[in-house]
Amino acid sequence: MQRLTNRQIILGITGGIAAYKCAELTRLLKGAGADVRVVMTPAATEFITPLTMQALSGNPVHHQLLDPEAEAGMGHIELAKWADLILIAPASADFMARLESGQGNDLLTTLCLATDAPICLAPAMNQAMWRDIATQANADKLQQRGIKLFGPGTGEQACGDTGPGRMLEPAELAQLCAEQFSSGALSGKTVFITAGPTREPLDPVRYISNHSSGKMGYSLAQAAVDAGARVKLISGPVNLAAPERLQRVMVQTARDMLDASLDGIEQCDIFIASAAVADYRPTAVAEHKMKKGKEEVMELHLVKNPDIVATVAARPDKPFTVGFAAETQDVLAYARDKLQRKNLNLIVANDVSRSDIGFNSDENAVTVISADQDQPLPQTSKRQLANQLIELIASEYNRNSQ
Ligand code: PMT
Repeated sequence: MQRLTNRQIILGITGGIAAYKCAELTRLLKGAGADVRVVMTPAATEFITPLTMQALSGNPVHHQLLDPEAEAGMGHIELAKWADLILIAPASADFMARLESGQGNDLLTTLCLATDAPICLAPAMNQAMWRDIATQANADKLQQRGIKLFGPGTGEQACGDTGPGRMLEPAELAQLCAEQFSSGALSGKTVFITAGPTREPLDPVRYISNHSSGKMGYSLAQAAVDAGARVKLISGPVNLAAPERLQRVMVQTARDMLDASLDGIEQCDIFIASAAVADYRPTAVAEHKMKKGKEEVMELHLVKNPDIVATVAARPDKPFTVGFAAETQDVLAYARDKLQRKNLNLIVANDVSRSDIGFNSDENAVTVISADQDQPLPQTSKRQLANQLIELIASEYNRNSQ
């Protein structure tokens, strides 16, 4: 079920008594980390209300093809592109017939025509309707087109008959959905990533900061999402759009970043600190813009900021903790010292004396240091490097949890 983390699933509901089971199915899919959007045929709304499905899925329910309000939100083509998988449960005999003949006469059939995502059907109908030659021919043709059939099961039916045509149970359907996705290196894991600089205000218009662009941290967040993790990206002020399928929390100061990092830390499996956090902040923030005086020299008084990654690593329920070390000299030696001093599992040593890597560049080169080995990762794009880092972190995390 961990494979469902971050997956975007359209649950299509057609008219059938088994529609009531979709409440539990939605709960299971959501509980496994999937984002679920429900699309109902008009007949389905006679069996279970859109309001119920909206409350359970946490998303607006779509049930009309020609609905200007819904189209203004997420239009039907956008919805078709959004889906990683479309599960139609229950799939009635009528819906299967319409899907087989390529009709687009309601929102759900239109979505099926417009999507590139895999389509899976959970047929549910009276046993005689399932056995009918037309339904069987439709089922065969749909399968030949690559559409998967989950079930139907055999047993007692709502109408009193016994035989094939029962919709599979929600737990079986959720499991079958999960099996449609390959397992990523971090499937089901919760990863927190700090990224970008912090800003420490001096007065309402000035602050102390650094050149971090956030590119390294955002690339790591994207790579962790791609590896199947549930990601919280705690970001200082940067000019980067939030990657999809993660939670981004924007912060300004080191203390804000610490608060956002500790919020929900009990759920965190892996903490990656790539942010360039200001070590010190002004002791006081002037209420008004500071005026230029007669003095040639101005003194600033600074106080130490909390160390975020060290605070996380000092917890009794410490997640697997990865720091970065930005150094301009004796890079590996200083990094090793930080690995020990901050009680980290891994540290990524980054030579920031070069202008082609490190701060605010598109490329980077690092050495990943653990207690027993150093692994250099040569210069490449931050995106590529992030994929290599996430793979390495996942494998060290797994080794550590054995
Ligand atoms: O953002 P980019 O432009 O892509 O640049 C990427 C980067 C150069 C910022 C990144 O690769 C990097 O090296 N990040 C670490 C920057 C840094 O501040 O390193 P440090 O050696 O000062 O800190 C050591 C570790 O402690 C880091 O994991 C840092 O996040 C953490 N720290 C530091 C101070 C503090 N108060 N709290 C912390 O958590």
